[in-house]
Amino acid sequence: MATRRSAKAARPPASTRRSTVLVVLVVHGPNLNLLGERDPARYGRTTLAEIDRELAVRAARQGALIESYQSNVEGELVTRIQQARGRADAILINAAAYTHTSVALRDALEAVALPAVEVHLTHVARREPFRHNSLIAGACVGMVAGFGPASYYAALDAILEHLHRPVRRKESRP
Ligand code: DQA
Repeated sequence: MATRRSAKAARPPASTRRSTVLVVLVVHGPNLNLLGERDPARYGRTTLAEIDRELAVRAARQGALIESYQSNVEGELVTRIQQARGRADAILINAAAYTHTSVALRDALEAVALPAVEVHLTHVARREPFRHNSLIAGACVGMVAGFGPASYYAALDAILEHLHRPVRRKESRP
């Protein structure tokens, strides 16, 4: 799935933009393009396009803009996260299986240093042990999991609230 905005529509760095519209990049990892058909008993019948549309509607109501991107390729996800520098104010990321394996995605999130929320449709802590560990969690300000598509919507509300009033945190990163 391509980004909603063309790559040519370059924005000035977020810090120097005059517009007050907040831009939230939503990154979807491997196999999430199959949502709606993939293991519906676990992941439900809602498609990724429907989730993206609902996010856009909810964001617009709050004066924000969503850019959505899905890829099955780790490096493409890294590149898209890098491109968020100066273009987006925050990131929602469901890295799917790469959550549990990808140092590269963790490093990309740390490199762009934007507030990010880790999102999962399922309650990963209640699933197989290999899904309990997240390599990206330490690069995110928070995590929402277990609510199906509503995980994304809750994450959007949380990140917009955070952008207006950042929570001061004492936890050290894993
Ligand atoms: C997932 C959970 C991951 O463990 C899994 O690999 C996915 C989806 C979720 O949204 O619940 O593909 O990220």
